Amino acid sequence: MKYVKDDIAEILVSEEEIDRITTRIAKEIDEDYKGEDKKLVLVCILKGSLVFMGDLMKKITVPVEIDCMKASSYGVGTESSGQINITLDLLRPDIKECDILIVEDIVDSGITLTHLTKYLLMKGAKSVKTCTFLDKPSRRRVEITPDYCGVEIPDEFVVGYGLDYAEMYRALPFVGVLKPEVYTK
Ligand code: IMP
Ligand code: MG
Repeated sequence: MKYVKDDIAEILVSEEEIDRITTRIAKEIDEDYKGEDKKLVLVCILKGSLVFMGDLMKKITVPVEIDCMKASSYGVGTESSGQINITLDLLRPDIKECDILIVEDIVDSGITLTHLTKYLLMKGAKSVKTCTFLDKPSRRRVEITPDYCGVEIPDEFVVGYGLDYAEMYRALPFVGVLKPEVYTK
């Protein structure tokens, strides 16, 4: 019997830690978006952010709407190409009233989040802020600091809690470092 977790070298963010992080970020969001004049829309960037988004939205207590977008950077293996394609767009007639919070699984080069922020502002969103569960600051190719951040991690390829390698490992309930032999074989 093959178990998915056998391909994990080390757990980087445990289920308990995930629970503490999502509780903390939800509180920060509650505080910042409590105004009557706010129309908070969480935008989940599919598919990686699905699990984080689900946990986070359940802990937010101010009024909130949800939406999804999909962006792909043509990449090979564990490296991003730097070119972003929006494959599922945000189509909202009320975008000019929306305070959008982009929810990402991980910020690596920063190219995806920078591109999406500019794109949504260009479409006329009232405000656009960014929230990421994981941040790899040492990998930045464009300067961007997420408004909300779960945890900074070193430059290692991680999977689980929504993050994949070749579409696998997303369902793991924790974030782990993939054994290098899995992607070098
Ligand atoms: P960026 O545009 O380079 O910041 O890339 C962000 C995207 O790259 C994320 O949304 C992930 O899909 C992917 N990515 C970056 N690092 C990792 C990783 O360690 N594991 C899995 N996916 C990753
Ligand atoms: Mg992603």
